[in-house]
Formats: sequence, C-alpha cells, structure tokens
Amino acid sequence: MQDAVSELAGSVEAVLDGQPDGPEIDEAAAIAELWPAMERFLERADELPDDARAPNTDGGAIGHLLHADARERFHILSVVFPPGTSSGIHEHGCWGIIGYVAGLDEETRFRRVDGGTGDDEVVLEELERTVHEPGTISRLLPPDEMHHRVRNPGDVDGVSVHVLCKLPESHPHKFWDRDHHRLLPFPFRVLPGNRVRAEVELD
Ligand SMILES: [Fe+2]
Repeated sequence: MQDAVSELAGSVEAVLDGQPDGPEIDEAAAIAELWPAMERFLERADELPDDARAPNTDGGAIGHLLHADARERFHILSVVFPPGTSSGIHEHGCWGIIGYVAGLDEETRFRRVDGGTGDDEVVLEELERTVHEPGTISRLLPPDEMHHRVRNPGDVDGVSVHVLCKLPESHPHKFWDRDHHRLLPFPFRVLPGNRVRAEVELD
C-alpha cells in the first residue's frame, strides 16, 4: 500500500490533471475535489513520521517538504508550530488546502478592506478566529480567503499538512507589515534537510 503522503500526492495530481495548467485553473473547484483526498489523508495521519512532526533545530516553527510535483503545480508541507509560535499575518496568492494533524492551531482570517490590489496602502481587517483540532480542514482561495495568521494556543506542538499551489520557491506568499500598511515578499526558502521556512524580505 502507498504511504499516506504518496497517496495524497497522487490524488492531488489526478485532480490537477483534470484542470487546465496555469492561471486558468478553477481553484474553487479543484479545492472541492481535493477535500475528500485530504480527509482520507487525515484518517491516515498517524503514519506521518516523527521527523515531519518535529520543530526546527532551534525550537521554532518550521515546514518540512514532503512532496514536490514534477510538473511544479503543487507541493506538500508538514508545518510545525511549537506552543506560542505564530506565522504572522500573511497572504497566499494562489490556492491551498490545509489538514490539521496534531495539537491545536488557531487560525485568524483577515480580509482586505482598502479596495486596492497592490502591495502598498494595504489594510486588513480581522474576520474570524478558529481553533483547529486534529481532523479539521481549511482552504486558501484568493482573493477573499487568502489572508491569515496561524498561531499555536496549546501546550503541545501544532502539526498541519499543507497542499499549496506551485513549488515552495515559486509559491506567492506575502507578509503584512501592519505598521507600514504594506505587503512584503515572504518567500519560502528550502533549507538543508528539506526544511522550509518563510522569511520576510525587506527592501
Ligand atoms: Fe499561510
């Protein structure tokens, strides 16, 4: 039998094979089709190995790259938030689906209210907070469901599995600089050991 991550990757490939490549993809339809695949993965999530559930070597939050699509359409990360750590408020410029595996992750959703689409004069307003328990799923779907912050409110590591559009290096990811009302590049860096961390780029 395939391992749980390979099965998930195969299911994502099958869904995306039914979609046009590039910007013509129907992201909402793709996510709806991916939902049962993520549910199936979560039923098998106890198979996720210990190294994919481990915090960074410095004890901080980290991603672990579990799969990268040969056609560069998506990647799969496990993301570990130790107690008290947070992603900061950021946006994802294309689709994603997140399954919650262990611990608690509080996800705060925001919406953009300044009426613009550029990176300056950006005002986000908090919409809602959800504490995700293992077995739950959320989605990233621009332009209305792309801004969030994830923070661990619990006392054990929060672990989630993210299927995100494109590859880590090309995933459109921006950090909201709340003090200066601007979006900053927040690219994923693939570090030794297939660890993945997003780092804010200041100009
Ligand atoms: Fe995110």
